[in-house]
This record gives sequence, structure tokens and C-alpha cells, in this order.
Amino acid sequence: MAKMWAGRTDGVTEKIADDFNSSISFDSRMYKQDITGSMVHAQMLAKQGIISEGDAESLVAGLEGILADIESGELPIDMECEDIHMFVEQVLTERIGDVGKRLHTARSRNDQVALDIRMYLREETDTITELAKKLIGVITDKADQYKDAIMPGYTHLQRAQPVTFGHHLMAYAMMLLRDVDRLADCRKRMNLSPIGCCALAGTTYNTDRRYEAENLGFDGICLNSLDGVSDRDFCAELMSDIAILMMHLSRFSEEIILWSSWEFKFVELSDAYTTGSSIMPQKKNPDMAELVRGKTGRVYGNLISLLTTLKGLPLAYNKDMQEDKESVFDACDTVIMCLKVFTGMIETLRANTVNMKRAAQKGFINATDLADYLVKKGLPFRSAYKISGTLVALCIEKNTVLEELPLEVYKQHSELFEEDLYNEIDLMTCLEKRVSEGGTSVNSVKAQINYVKEMLEK
Ligand code: ARG
Repeated sequence: MAKMWAGRTDGVTEKIADDFNSSISFDSRMYKQDITGSMVHAQMLAKQGIISEGDAESLVAGLEGILADIESGELPIDMECEDIHMFVEQVLTERIGDVGKRLHTARSRNDQVALDIRMYLREETDTITELAKKLIGVITDKADQYKDAIMPGYTHLQRAQPVTFGHHLMAYAMMLLRDVDRLADCRKRMNLSPIGCCALAGTTYNTDRRYEAENLGFDGICLNSLDGVSDRDFCAELMSDIAILMMHLSRFSEEIILWSSWEFKFVELSDAYTTGSSIMPQKKNPDMAELVRGKTGRVYGNLISLLTTLKGLPLAYNKDMQEDKESVFDACDTVIMCLKVFTGMIETLRANTVNMKRAAQKGFINATDLADYLVKKGLPFRSAYKISGTLVALCIEKNTVLEELPLEVYKQHSELFEEDLYNEIDLMTCLEKRVSEGGTSVNSVKAQINYVKEMLEK
């Protein structure tokens, strides 16, 4: 069959060329945005006297019917069509006759597709934001539950200083809060309407772009028509935000994988979020966390793919730009799936506080506090650091810990040591003394929790 755009050419193409050219297999998901955009376009055309009110009514009624029929399943989307825009227009013309052919006045598929993606991604951005917020809520509740569960905090994956599990969890709540903020920022730039830019240069018709923008829920319009049809920054921006979010989930996943190993045994994942091995009966594998970590690479790939597609494109529209959709849709689908699974996994995760505490006791993570003790008695920090380090080396040699070392031994290294040192290096004291804002003391973690809860309500 000849194409709707038959004109200069006879519109008869090879099947293989059609298949290659077609985007309907992945852009059909934008049917609702396409139809809604077209309804408002028809209304604008009538308001401006470009088409008659009667024609606009037929167009809108026809489009409403198509939308309803696609949603009910009565109208299957024809995968032989070139894209969703052509499909809708074709069905419309079949259903209401020649009036259908008036819809594409003062419009091009270039501004139409730009409009549809923005509207589609706007909703996706809201969905991702809501899911991220839900996860933050779940993390915050867990943190509250474990705000006094002591564990070793690490640097270089070496035991460093005592923290609480609640404090550690809240670090991720903070990251995700920034992600939510980034998404809101991205949405601002996304929410400008390109419709009316037409093919590239605007139009000679007396259109009202701002009417269309307003009625489609945009905050404003793209102010340069060439830019309006060529801009895919909002896709790249959204994917960057998603990539950073995934990076956060991936780091968290890595920790969960480590913590649930026999070597750590800090957390126990619910059976519902683990898998067994087909050969090793003892296994309980953290597959969900591993997949989230794995899919992060895929999302990075999506971002790089789009940036690379765009980097050499002259203005304005080029067919290369059709390649934007698969990457950005895949990034959205992936992060949505990951957030849902991750939330369930965290919600059902239990901490093994006994093992966490045991690990905290064995790692000399109070060595800084021992040095601070001497500093408070007047010694310069560097000298105190040296003494504390020497005592740690001694403990390692004697297979003991700082808490068990007799006072005489301490005194051999500094006369400043007194009986009260044992209280100072007690792990609970070490925790509770870290009262600086953002620190690990229970009160400080409570303050973090309250802050995050407040931000979530905003
Ligand atoms: N399917 C196309 C896309 O996704 C729609 C725009 C087509 N425009 C054009 N001039 N061929 O980009």
C-alpha cells in the first residue's frame, strides 16, 4: 500500500525498508499522549479559525473513540504501520473520512513526536519519583528500627569507626533524596511544549502555541522552533538522573551482597527476595541485588547510546532521532522495575545485630577515640595518634583488644592514661559521643530521619 506521505515519491517501498524504518513496535506506548496532543491541536485549529468548529468536533470525537478502543483492546495497534502517529491518523481518516486529513494542518511529525515523548516522559518521571520516595520511606523506617544497632563503619573496606546500622542506611536515604530533587529539576526543563514548531521553521498559519501548551499541562513553550524539534536534552537529562539513581542502588546492592555473605552475616534477606542454586543446596543467593547492580550497566549504556546518537546531528530533525526512544524507554522501565523490587527487598530485610556488634568489637574501631582521649588530656593529636597505633599493634601481637589491655600497659606508653579511659573507648560511648550534626549518635540519626520525613512530605 502507498504511504500517507506519498507525493514526491510514489510511496511504494520495499518491505525490508519499511521494517527498518518502522518505530511502531516501540513508540506505540505513546498512543495516549499522541491522541491527547491531537485533540488539543484540533481545538486550537478551530479556535484560531484555521478549521471549522464542526470539523474540530468530528476530529475530537474520532480521536476519543480511538483512545477508548485502544484502551478496551477493541482496536489493536497495527504493527505494519510506520509509527504511532501514522497509525492514529490513518484510523481516524478511515473512521471519520476526509475531515481526518485536516488534523495535520500546521503541524509536522517532528514537533508531534517531540511533544509525545515529553508528555510520556513527564509521567514516567513522576512514577520514578513516587517510587524513589516510597523507597526512601522504607529505608528511613528501617533506619529508625536500627538507629542504635552498632556496626563497624568502613573505609577501604577496613573496619574504621563505629557507626549504627541506622546511620549507614540513612546515607542511602540522603542519596535518593538528591535523586528525587534532580528528577524534579529535570522535569522543569522537560515540561515545555514543542508543538507548533512544526517541521523546523514554525508556520504561516495563525496558531496559538501557548493555548496548546496550557491545555496539555506544560509550563511554557520551546522558544526556538529549530531547537524545539531537535532538542532531546530532556531524554539525556532524565537518563543521567536515572543513571545516578541506579548507581546509588547498585552501591547499596553491593553492600547487601557483601553483608548477606557468610563472611559478614550482617543481614538476612527474606526468602521471598532470594534464590537457590540448582546444584548447591546450601545456597541462598542475593539475585535481586545482583540484578540491580547488573542492570545499572545497562542503564549507563542507554545514556551513552543516546548521547552518541545526538553528538553529530545537524539541525533540525534527522531520522537518527527515532533512536532516542528505545534507550530512554528501557532506562525508565529498568529503573521502575529495580525500584519496586529493591523496596520489597529492603522492607523485608533483617539485620543480624549480634554479628554486627561482634564485628565492631574486633576491629579496633575505637582507636581514634583512644587518641582523642589523650588529646583531651593535653597531648597533640599526632603524638596521641602514634601512641594509640602502637597500642593497637601490641594488641594484635598479643591477640587481644584495647578494652582488655591492663592499665599498667597503658601507663607504660603514657602517664596521661587513667582508669576512665575504658569508659572512653567503650563502643557505645564512642557512638554516643559523635554528636556532631550528621554524625552517628542516636540523636543525630533521629534528626536525619526527621529531616528526610519532612522532605518527603513536601
Ligand atoms: N517515528 C519518527 C520518530 O520517532 C517520527 C518522526 C518522523 N519524522 C520524519 N520527518 N520522518 O522520530
